[in-house]
Amino acid sequence: MKIFLDTADYKKIAELSSTGLIDGVTINPSLLKIEQEPPIKIVREILKVLPDAEINLQVTEQDPKKVYEQAKHIANLADNMIVKIPCDKMYLPIIARLIQEDIPVNATLVFTLNQALELAKLGVNYISVFVGRLYDNNVDGLSVAESIQNMLDTYDFDSELLVASVRNAEHVEGSILFGADAITLPVEVFNALSESPLTRAGLERFKQDWEGGPHAQLLE
Ligand code: E4P
Repeated sequence: MKIFLDTADYKKIAELSSTGLIDGVTINPSLLKIEQEPPIKIVREILKVLPDAEINLQVTEQDPKKVYEQAKHIANLADNMIVKIPCDKMYLPIIARLIQEDIPVNATLVFTLNQALELAKLGVNYISVFVGRLYDNNVDGLSVAESIQNMLDTYDFDSELLVASVRNAEHVEGSILFGADAITLPVEVFNALSESPLTRAGLERFKQDWEGGPHAQLLE
């Protein structure tokens, strides 16, 4: 399962890139709003630390013609850029055109299996289903995500599922259990993945046993 970071904080991305676990980054206008630096600087900094990872940057234009132009601009920034486009009906022809031109597309704001079918038929690279926002609206987000993954696998579509709008470690474990292709995580959820109180307690016990034991050195 690919793991992306759901943030525009390039300093955090640089720090976490050393884990060797980061396959990509997802950025949307809300995440850019949090940062105090120009978006183009942010993207260039991310490209420096993750030159081979998949950098998913969302369009900010609304008009379909301008969305197309902005998508081309984003794609031209680097070979590993992926253009995030909302899956609204008015953008479907734009998505189809970009795919025909071999521009990688991540269709975002996906909430239903039917939307996902359309996007898979167009051949988008990623279908971003927003599980957290589904739960906010009393819909079982992981079930919707699982049904999309099943559809992609059953019909052998090339598109990959990207579980987005992840709020906690349970969403990650649920995604692992149904075999999600990819997931994007806020920094705090990513950091929580390797946390277990039993690991901490075990570490403390090994430390105490070693320090209270008879040996001064391990290998001498
Ligand atoms: C990522 O592609 C999405 O834009 C992001 O996960 C949305 O998360 P949110 O629902 O917490 O804003």
